[in-house]
Amino acid sequence: MKKFLLMATAFILAASCCQHKAPKVLVLYYSQTGVTQTVAEELQARLGADIEAIQVVNPYDGDFMATIERSREEMESGVYPDLAPLQVNVRDYDVIFLGFPVWFGTYAVPIATLLNTTDFSGKKIVPFCTFGSGGLDSSERALAERLGDSEILPGYGVRAARIEAMPAELDRFLKCSGFIEGTCEPLPEFPEQKPVTEEEAAIFDAAVGDYPMIHAQAETVASRQVSGGVEYCFTGYGLTVYVLAEEEKAPVFTQVIR
Ligand SMILES: Cc1cc2nc3c(=O)[nH]c(=O)nc-3n(C[C@H](O)[C@H](O)[C@H](O)COP(=O)(O)O)c2cc1C
Repeated sequence: MKKFLLMATAFILAASCCQHKAPKVLVLYYSQTGVTQTVAEELQARLGADIEAIQVVNPYDGDFMATIERSREEMESGVYPDLAPLQVNVRDYDVIFLGFPVWFGTYAVPIATLLNTTDFSGKKIVPFCTFGSGGLDSSERALAERLGDSEILPGYGVRAARIEAMPAELDRFLKCSGFIEGTCEPLPEFPEQKPVTEEEAAIFDAAVGDYPMIHAQAETVASRQVSGGVEYCFTGYGLTVYVLAEEEKAPVFTQVIR
């Protein structure tokens, strides 16, 4: 009997050790004006993940210029805002989708506080962000530098002005990165950059319009077919600007890389 019990216990242990365990996923985000929150909620719904909003104890004024001034001071002084304690324990999760607005080309200051006060070591981090013109790439680099003991996976970013395109883009992003089931049609690579034609320069100008932060003229371009239209990758003045020209729609820029 004793022998039988021992064998049964060993069998149960062996069986439980090797069952595939789904990773535990948390969506953790800061959003000042609600745009990043929209992405966070979409992620939470699609992943069936837990979600928590990061709260600043002394919230930023809703006024844009006041936020610019306060956050600039905080970044320069390194005195970051206090956060309300998290309700969740990030140690309980395998993958953390970490969301923020881009401020001054990197993650918003409350995230700097979070990284100073929370242990993300050994975790997989998937950044997601919203921005006026761009900053996913630079935020990912900053996170990788700051969190040497975590794995920073490729993230998702969207311009606040294109938030209506987010659900479809996010769906593709989650399928292509294997977080949800579904087929992922790979996009063709961009071919080599070539000098822009007059027609392409007009597409660039129409997409960038009078956006105040981009004072550039396109010099070279590469384009590829995407579902519903053409995606352009323009360069000029040290910038890379991605533009989407969908059929029967005005061209828009999707992100600027500085
Ligand atoms: C202080 C501050 C700095 C910002 N800096 C940038 C920036 O460097 N690049 C950019 O593309 N957008 C920048 N933005 C725009 C925000 O990233 C954008 O409005 C974002 O979608 C806001 O997200 P939220 O509604 O979740 O707070 C900045 C906004 C603020 C308030």
